[in-house]
Parts: sequence; structure tokens; C-alpha cells
Amino acid sequence: MFTLPKLSFDYKALEPYIDARTMEIHHTKHHQGYTNKLNNALEAGNLEGKSIEEILRNVSSHNDAIRNNGGGYYNHTLFWEILTPDGNDIPSGAFKQLFDETFDNLENFKKHFSKAAATRFGSGWAWLSVDANGELFVSSTANQDNPLMDVVEENGTPILGIDVWEHAYYLNYQNRRPDYINAFFEIINWEKVAQNYERSKP
Ligand SMILES: [Fe+2]
Repeated sequence: MFTLPKLSFDYKALEPYIDARTMEIHHTKHHQGYTNKLNNALEAGNLEGKSIEEILRNVSSHNDAIRNNGGGYYNHTLFWEILTPDGNDIPSGAFKQLFDETFDNLENFKKHFSKAAATRFGSGWAWLSVDANGELFVSSTANQDNPLMDVVEENGTPILGIDVWEHAYYLNYQNRRPDYINAFFEIINWEKVAQNYERSKP
């Protein structure tokens, strides 16, 4: 049985980048909804007790309810964790070294990541992930899919993600997804992303 994770900050803490009303609806309605529906689908399929990562890595053997709601549960859990009202820099260490080797600098990374997020048609996510060789890559996935899933083209462990469903930004930004993406860069918890990288190592 999965439960809705608590946020480490208030709904209004990310203003002006993400407004309180959007945060509250996103967490208490959307994420709660994915959580409830995932639990129902797992119960119906006698799949309780598995970790969410295990379920998603083998998602091709499950039904669409598990794919959509399992993805929704996992993706939003990661999303809240990599956001912070106190945007910080990439801490020095192994992650920063690999990040600089891969993208040269933050501005260049932003260009790649923004493109992936802005060009995702319809609803979905853009990701920074670690592949099986330990390399970083940027990708995007549709709906509530993510790079863990064995049904997407580019597999890896996501360590940073942006939700580009309209429910993530429409109240404040309407159709201006690029403005929302730019705002997102101001509230990334890079310390957490670096921790996610360390944890992704086999
Ligand atoms: Fe969302």
C-alpha cells in the first residue's frame, strides 16, 4: 500500500515560480488520485508488497492502470523531492564532475533539458537520468511513463524530472510552458539531485 508523501515545504513556498493553488491541487488531488488508483490496481492484481521501482521496471507485464498510476505515483514523488524554495548550486563531487563532462556547463544543460520539456507533445515529463553505464542523459516520455519502465526507448534511473502536464502550470502560466520551464530552473534542489545520482549507482 503506497501513501501520498508529505512535502518538505508549504504549498506557497515555491511562489512566485509555482503558485500555492497549483501546488495544493497537484499534491492533494492529482498525486493522491494516482496513489489511490495504484493501490486499487495492485490489490486487484495481487501485486501488493513489491517496490514501485520493481513494478515499473517490469511494467510491460502489467496493465495500463498500473503503468499510468504507478508512473504517476513515482514521478510526482521524485518531482516534489527535487524542488526547493531555496534553489541551490550543484555541489562539488562526483555528480558535478560527470555533469560538467556531459554538458560542459549548467546553461548548456538547460538548453537540452528545456528542449526536451518544451517539445514533448501533449502531456508528459522531461528527465535527467543515469543509464546502465553510469552516463547521464536527457530524455522525455509521454503521459506518466518514465525511464525506469521497460516500455520506453531510453532506459535509466531518473534523478531529476519536470512535469509538463498542463495541470502542473496552467493556472499561473496558461499556455506558456517555456516560462514555466524557465521558472523550474530557479527551484531545483541540486543537492538532492546529486544524492539521487549517488543512489542510482548499482
Ligand atoms: Fe502532475
